[in-house]
Amino acid sequence: TDPYCVMGNPVAHSRSPWIHARFAELTGQPVRYDRALVPLDGFADFVRDFAEQGGKGCNVTVPFKLQAAELATSASERVRLAGAANTLVFSASGIHAENTDGLGIVADITRNAGVQIAGRDVLLLGAGGAAAGALGSLIEQQPRRIVVSNRTQAKAVALIAQHAAMASLHKVELSALDRQALEADPTQNFDIVINATASSLAGAEVPAPASVLHARTLAYDMMYGPAAQNFLDWASSHGALARDGLGMLVEQAAESFALWRGVRPPSIQVLSELRALLQ
Ligand code: ATR
Repeated sequence: TDPYCVMGNPVAHSRSPWIHARFAELTGQPVRYDRALVPLDGFADFVRDFAEQGGKGCNVTVPFKLQAAELATSASERVRLAGAANTLVFSASGIHAENTDGLGIVADITRNAGVQIAGRDVLLLGAGGAAAGALGSLIEQQPRRIVVSNRTQAKAVALIAQHAAMASLHKVELSALDRQALEADPTQNFDIVINATASSLAGAEVPAPASVLHARTLAYDMMYGPAAQNFLDWASSHGALARDGLGMLVEQAAESFALWRGVRPPSIQVLSELRALLQ
C-alpha cells in the first residue's frame, strides 16, 4: 500500500482522508491516506521524512502552500503563477508541485453545476492564497472578463499583474476593481461571483454590493459548511444561484488522485456521498 497524507496545521477538520479513502476503495488502488499535523516551523523536514519513509505524495493545506511551492524541485506553470501548491508528488527525480485547487473549482462549476465559464463575466472576491490558486485555471477557461476585487486593492493589482501575460494569451480582460468602484457602477454585474475571501470566517459582511448579482448569477463560495453560509444566504436572498465549495474540495482531491495514480476516481459519486454525510 502506498502512503499519502494531507499536511496542515490545523488539519483535524480535513475531509481529505475520507475522500481519498473512498477514491481508493472505488478504484481499487492500494492507497493509504492519513492526516498529518505538521509543526509550524517543521514543514520541510516533515516532507523529507515522509518521502524517505516511503511516502508517494501529499496534499498541503494552510499554512504551508507557499512553502510547498518553494521546496519542490519542479513545479507546474499553475504553481509558478499562484506561488502556491496543494499537491506534491515524490519520485526518484525529486519533488514535483502541482496546484489542483483551480482545476477543482473549474470542474465543479462547469461539470457538476453545469455552468459555462467560457465567454462569461467573472468576479473573483479576494486576492489571497485561495484566489491566487484559482485565477490561472479560471483564465484558461477563457471567460470574457475577470474582475478581481479585494479589500486591500494593492494585492488585487499585484495578482492581476502576475497573470497579465496569461490573460492576454487567452484573450481575457483582467482588471481589479475595489468595492467602492463596484458600488459606484451598478451596471457592473457578473455571471459568476466567486468568494475566495476569509470575510465570513471573520464574521464580516460579504465584501461586495448586491448589484454585482443578476438573476442567473452563480454565486460560489470556496468554503463549505458554516463558513460559507453567510455568503450563500446573501446570494440566495438576492435571487442568485448559490453553491458552496464542497464540490471544489472533492474535485481538487480527484485531480490530485489522478496525478498520483493515473486513474480518475468517480468524483461525482463521492461528492454526493459526502454531501449526504455532512447533512
Ligand atoms: P487564503 O489562503 O484563504 O486566501 P489569505 O491569503 O489570508 O487566506 O487571504 C484572505 C483573503 O480574505 C484576502 O483576500 C483578504 O483580504 P485582504 O487582502 O484585504 O486582507 C480577505 N479578507 C479577510 N478578512 C476579510 C474581511 N473581513 N473583509 C473582506 N475581506 C477579507
